[in-house]
Amino acid sequence: MSIALCPGSFDPITNGHLDVIRRAAGIFDKVLVTVFHNSRKTPLFTVAERMQMAREACADLPNVEVDSCDGLLVDYARRRGVNVIVKGLRAVSDFEAEFQMAQMNRELEPSVETMFIMTRLENLFLSSRIIKEIVFLGGDVSRFVPPVVNSMLQMKKAGS
Ligand code: PNS
Repeated sequence: MSIALCPGSFDPITNGHLDVIRRAAGIFDKVLVTVFHNSRKTPLFTVAERMQMAREACADLPNVEVDSCDGLLVDYARRRGVNVIVKGLRAVSDFEAEFQMAQMNRELEPSVETMFIMTRLENLFLSSRIIKEIVFLGGDVSRFVPPVVNSMLQMKKAGS
């Protein structure tokens, strides 16, 4: 069985992430969408909330499993028996960081390969960071995120 790992902070998951996950789910037998704790970022949502949003957003994809991890990506991949990491690439600006992570992950675990899916043009400008900024400044993001994420963002804003 071919299994791909789609890792990310998913804080929150956006239509851009979902497009990449959906396309990976059409190529691989199974896709693990894994919410990672990212020590370089202060998340808005808890890991449980991020998993809940990802689960609801991927509910129509039977070969997608949502999981979480707070350790090293390659250790997780080894533990789950996955040797393909699939990531979305938006623009040249993503490339350097992704290239560095892919190289380092290969150093740490040579059997794990990283593959990239180019984002659709309509998602080129989308990021979780910009979505949160728009919401907290009163903008409408409903066409950029799944309904569950829009509701959860509104709840966070109301409680802030
Ligand atoms: O959605 P993000 O924040 O761009 O995802 C980054 C993520 C979670 C994929 C990256 O930070 C990661 O791989 N974290 C796991 C910890 C790890 O293995 N770090 C070393 C990477 S070379």
